[in-house]
Amino acid sequence: MKDRIELHGKFFKPFMSNAQVEKIIDGVAEKLNRDFASGDEVPMFLCVLNGAIMFTAAVMKRVHFNAELVSIKMSSYQGTTSTGTVLVPLGLTGSVKGRNVIVFEDIVDTGNTIIALKELLLSKGARDVRICTMLMKPEVYNKPEKLDYVGAEIPNAFIVGYGLDYDELGRNYDKIYVLDE
Ligand code: IMP
Repeated sequence: MKDRIELHGKFFKPFMSNAQVEKIIDGVAEKLNRDFASGDEVPMFLCVLNGAIMFTAAVMKRVHFNAELVSIKMSSYQGTTSTGTVLVPLGLTGSVKGRNVIVFEDIVDTGNTIIALKELLLSKGARDVRICTMLMKPEVYNKPEKLDYVGAEIPNAFIVGYGLDYDELGRNYDKIYVLDE
């Protein structure tokens, strides 16, 4: 496993080991298993592409209730800072009308992306929308909405790995790296 990686000329150093990431995911799956243990409802897992692919897949493998999977693509990042503009280049791959949706995100930063998505899903007729994120940055999150499932809180730093990218690179690493400036 590399100690330092280079992406587009910038260097990143280790931030979280794979064991730490797996532990975070175990915790999220445990909470979901507890909340959906009754099996009364079949929630729809909505993977926010591309960053949440690894996280969503890892959680899905750990849950013991029936759940469907759909995806959507949104992005408010360009380079290493949030642009504040939420883009929706790819539509929803399934209907959310009347459904309980759990949105899976890799990381919540300002919250612009996730809250815009929650509103979009409610406007499309979703019955309930919960947010499940692997990581969040409480120092920059500026929305009144409470996040339902948060794997771990991290400082306001730019990270890559486990699905997270720097201009499309770095997603493949199974641990998380932070910008080394
Ligand atoms: P927000 O809309 O400001 O909350 O930004 C959320 C989106 O920005 C996430 O879906 C990520 O794709 C991306 N993002 C936020 N922080 C980071 C980071 O540290 N590394 C890589 N991508 C990030």
